[in-house]
This record gives sequence, structure tokens and C-alpha cells, in this order.
Amino acid sequence: METGLIHGLHHITLCTSTAQGDVDFFVKVIGQRFIKRTLFYDGRIPIYHLYFSDADGTPGTVMTTFPMRRTGLAGRKGSGQFTAIAYSIPTGSIDFWREHFGKSGVKIVEESERFGEKYLRVVHAGIDFEVVEDPSDTRKPWKSEYVPEQYAVRGFHNWTATVREFEDMDIFLKNAWYFRPTMSDGKFTRYEAGVGGAGRRIDILHEPDMRQGMWTLAEGIIHHGAFDVPDYDAQARVKFDTEGMGFTDFSDRKNRGYFESVYVRTPGGVMFEATKSLGFKMDEEESRLGSELKIAPQFDVSHEELRALMQVEDPIHV
Ligand SMILES: [Fe+2]
Repeated sequence: METGLIHGLHHITLCTSTAQGDVDFFVKVIGQRFIKRTLFYDGRIPIYHLYFSDADGTPGTVMTTFPMRRTGLAGRKGSGQFTAIAYSIPTGSIDFWREHFGKSGVKIVEESERFGEKYLRVVHAGIDFEVVEDPSDTRKPWKSEYVPEQYAVRGFHNWTATVREFEDMDIFLKNAWYFRPTMSDGKFTRYEAGVGGAGRRIDILHEPDMRQGMWTLAEGIIHHGAFDVPDYDAQARVKFDTEGMGFTDFSDRKNRGYFESVYVRTPGGVMFEATKSLGFKMDEEESRLGSELKIAPQFDVSHEELRALMQVEDPIHV
């Protein structure tokens, strides 16, 4: 079998509450860069699509959100979803983060160790987030005005996906997705791609009695996780080979403005994406990234009116 077509994590997409809530949490608490504001590329109702990352939108650091509160749709969490998102922080910084969450009014709901690594868990918009100490993560953090560089998040440590049935998900991860199991801890099995490490791993949580979560876009759930492929050939191969194994619930390639995506429903129910980056600097200068709402292509209306509408419907103050 060919190896390495999938390099690691790219972005993860959440259905959150409000745009301002996301800016406050991801920029002012987590310390990410607000790198792009656009709209959901599917559907006729304008919903923000907000991006938070390191300085450049590097794969493995990109958090993206659809603030859904204004639609009135509430999600149901469960199996068949990504259920937690972990950022890596330098070893020895957990005391800073405990205090920083406290000062920011973000309650710590769990403090523990998994795979021998210390973590804190908090909740934003109904979704679980962790900061995990990782001594081997050498990625450069965004220079945030809210978090000192020595403590700053380096990008994703891992994402947790929860499944009711483990065996077919294991086969999918190994044979279709180029991940290999590297360790286990209780109900968790860790899988890594390529050289492994932060930004190249996911944890599968086996919960045989947990009911299926919701697949639609609705507040409070993680919608899908996207994985980094180097080029269109690799992306096409992943789709072709995966379909050849019988996993045929695969989309055609979709242009998302800043990357191109194919989506597959995995046997565990969790939606995966394989993503070819196009970059975030195509429509904004470096210094202006994330400062103006970029209108998704399906909205054939006045951009100024749509910007004004969104500022009323779901205001953002940075
Ligand atoms: Fe995506």
C-alpha cells in the first residue's frame, strides 16, 4: 500500500453560537490569529465562516467556525462525531493556562492526564477543548497580544473522534486514511500520520453505548475534521482508493475559496475531509488578514448590503 498521501491535520469546523463569542474565545483566550472572515459556501442563508490559526493559516492550526445561533438550530452531540479538540502547549505552561482560563472567566471542567500527558479541559459554545503539554512540538506560535509567546498554543495537538463501533473505523484509518495506531489508553486509541506528533494525530474514543450525534449544521457540535493532502493528485488518489475499498459516501471536489475539499462519511459516522490548501493571502494583504468580510460566491447580491446585514445579525467587534 502506498503511504503518506495524507500528511496530517488541516482544519476542523465547528458549529458555534455567535461570531463575537468565537472571536472572544479563539483570539482573546486561546490566542489564535483571526485570519479570515467569510460566509458558509453552501446554502442561501448567510452564516459567517470564521477562521482562526497561526500567522499563516498553516495546516494543523486552522480552527473554523459557523456561528449558528441566529438560525435557531441546536445540535445534539454523540458518537459519530469529533467530540474534543486539543491544542498543544509547551511543557510547564499548564499553570499559566489554569490561571489564564480563570481570569478569562472560562471554567475548567477537567484536569487530568491521558497518554501520560497533562491536560486541562474547557467548554466553549457547548464544545470540549483541551490544552495539552507537548514537549516535542516545535511549531512557531502566533504572536498574540493575549497570551505570552512562551505559553502560546502551537497548533492542534490532536482531535478526538467518538465511535460506537471501533473495528471498521480502525480499518478505515489504517487502509484508507494512512494513519497507524501508535498507542492506547483505556477507551482511547491514538493514530498518527507520517512522522506523527502534534498536528498529525487523532484519538479514537470507543463508546459502544453512546447514541449517534447529529450530522446537520446546528449549534454545539463539531461538524467535520479536515486532513492535509499535498496536491490534487494525492487528493484524487485518496478518493479513488477509498471508494475502491467500498467507502463510497464521498463527495466531489468543492472549492472553498481558500482550499479545495472532498468529504467522506467514515464508517464510524464521523465526517472527514481531504483538503488541498490554496492559501489565505489571495484576497487580503498580510497585515489586513481577517479584517473584512469576504462574500461567498453563491451570494449574487450587493456585498455592502450583505456586510451591513451580518454586522446587525451577528456583530463582530475585534
Ligand atoms: Fe472543512
